[in-house]
Amino acid sequence: MAAELERFLSRLNAEIRDEADWGMVATYIPELAEVDPQQFGIAVVTADGAIATAGDAERRFSIQSISKVFSLACVLGRIGDQIWARVGREPSGARFDSILLLEREQGRPRNPFINAGAIVTTDELLTGRTPRDALSEIVGFLRAAAEDDDIHIDKSVAASEAESGFRNVALANYLKSYGNLNNPPQMTLGTYFHQCAIEMTCVQLALAGRAIAGLPGAPSVVSAVKARRLNALMMLCGHYDGSGDFAFRVGLPGKSGVGGGILLIAPGRASVAIWSPGLNAYGNSKAGTVAAERLAAHMGWSVFA
Ligand code: DON
Repeated sequence: MAAELERFLSRLNAEIRDEADWGMVATYIPELAEVDPQQFGIAVVTADGAIATAGDAERRFSIQSISKVFSLACVLGRIGDQIWARVGREPSGARFDSILLLEREQGRPRNPFINAGAIVTTDELLTGRTPRDALSEIVGFLRAAAEDDDIHIDKSVAASEAESGFRNVALANYLKSYGNLNNPPQMTLGTYFHQCAIEMTCVQLALAGRAIAGLPGAPSVVSAVKARRLNALMMLCGHYDGSGDFAFRVGLPGKSGVGGGILLIAPGRASVAIWSPGLNAYGNSKAGTVAAERLAAHMGWSVFA
């Protein structure tokens, strides 16, 4: 299968580049606004442990909201179901940074993958610890999951978001006003911005997803029950108000980031990372979503069949 998959990925890479339908990079984080949208990479790790890649699969990109899956995994490992007292598990049907939704729900974010929910998750990880320790836990989790210590935070991206992340400042202050933030808003936000600024390649991210995909031989960083729950949340909430469209088109759990990455899970079969920095109207990778759709269709991977 490995050779056939390599051939398919190489064709897919050529098709995506021919079509050149890249979308627009995120501009609200100045450092991300400078990234060339015309890039595409993909890495697929299958159940037999083989890795197939194409395009810019070894180039580092800002994982942004994909980090929310791993910070949640850390919190679930730490306090388990107690986190659900502070954040819900329902799809939002709203933008990832919606203030309206948080106000309507009186400070209990709809799910842990919208910004407000992820800020709460990070706040929980930070409680009783320093930002450095909380960040070490998330980065350490990723390094263990990928079996690769060369995973780091891009401090210039974190600083760039700290300078321009006014909506997140508003969300953190709303959370605090409703009593759903244990730490000072600036401290939680600083930690959250740094977690979003973790850089990885597609190869590293696909390797990090093996445990969530339940692949044989994956490092045991998350239990099977928790992996199932992460997959359910990725399916329903991983692409914000575009989650239904992604489920319809791809049929697999996925988590996007505004840096253009997508972590895609074919449970028991494969862990996939795709990166193309141009975004669609929902803030999810435009060419990346097309690639996910074509890969899943070609391989016959779906959680619905
Ligand atoms: O909080 C933010 O706005 C960013 N650090 C992360 C947002 C994000 O990745 C949304 N995903 N598409």
